[in-house]
Amino acid sequence: MTRPLRARIDLGALQHNLHRTREAAPHSHIMAVVKANGYGHGMVRVAQTLHEADGFGVACLEEAITLREAGIQQPISLLEGFFESGELPAISHYRLMPVVHTERQIRQLEAAQLPQPVAVWLKIDTGMHRLGFTPEMFEPMYRRLQACVNVGDIGLFSHLGYADDRRSLQTQRQCERFHALVDAFPGARSLANSGGLLGWPETQFDWVRPGLMLYGISPFAGNTGPEQGLQPVMTLASELIAVNRYERGAAIGYSGAWVCPEDMPVGVVAVGYGDGYPRHAPTGTPVLVNGKRTQIIGRVSMDMLCVDLRGQPDARIGDPVLLWGAELPVEEIARYAGTIAYELVCAIASRVPVEVQSPAPLEITS
Ligand SMILES: Cc1ncc(COP(=O)(O)O)c(C=O)c1O
Repeated sequence: MTRPLRARIDLGALQHNLHRTREAAPHSHIMAVVKANGYGHGMVRVAQTLHEADGFGVACLEEAITLREAGIQQPISLLEGFFESGELPAISHYRLMPVVHTERQIRQLEAAQLPQPVAVWLKIDTGMHRLGFTPEMFEPMYRRLQACVNVGDIGLFSHLGYADDRRSLQTQRQCERFHALVDAFPGARSLANSGGLLGWPETQFDWVRPGLMLYGISPFAGNTGPEQGLQPVMTLASELIAVNRYERGAAIGYSGAWVCPEDMPVGVVAVGYGDGYPRHAPTGTPVLVNGKRTQIIGRVSMDMLCVDLRGQPDARIGDPVLLWGAELPVEEIARYAGTIAYELVCAIASRVPVEVQSPAPLEITS
């Protein structure tokens, strides 16, 4: 590829983060959440690298089939369930475990003719108010599933809505509601995402469902992955493709949104919103040029952005630019851009070439 932009994916960091997850949730099975193309990191490569995970979580049938066709054997859960009854034969054939969250899905299971029963997660709304049966509906729905010949094991499942906020009391409340509902029923239980499993160990139950933390990103607002013992997996890096000197008063980029306060050098970097860099990142968003911190200036355009080189008068074309990575947390860029790190990594465009860094070979010591 001629354009110098790269997304580097560090598979060793991914494995480290899985070990960190095991350390934090030693008594639970780990369902690694790899939906949305492994949060932008490459779903199949992530799943193959995390071969020690006990299972995988995806959003839909197509993602699950891609994993099975890549040779993934562990249990795969469909976290949004199934959307139409026509999916059920494939769900049965590929041994997938859908979330069931509507009575309509239960009717579809009851009406289906399947080669083998399907294990399901029965989803309860414990307070997030997005998907799931109300606490009152839980037991009647459980009984219906229990009586259905097309249903095998029934797992008990809910999702945390506030686990990014360590001060919120809601996670504790959701956990208590979950306990109160499921304790009298058999079946595997699953509640915690990354925030839950790191911040509230009591939410871990039989299966934890980490996504974000596996990619080395902190689930907590105002905090970074390394502060949680995690290693960032994705680095977004490019180069200066032009270095220009402008006079005081020169307006930079579209709409002249930033005006040079003095005569100064301005660098142009090959990355823009067409690559997934957030267009809403304002002037002042940090960037590393030659490993030194500076800021972007003016508007982010589709393929380029401009950077302030006043601190680096010797910077030249070809010098390295880090948009995010171990030395510049993606969480920080997300804060500047008014979004969350999930969105930034998921949004990496398909045109960005990926460089995969293999895990370091194990050192054999005698
Ligand atoms: C049902 C469910 N469980 C687990 C996760 C993983 O969450 P996180 O990436 O915050 O760990 C998600 C992600 O959105 C989810 O939808």
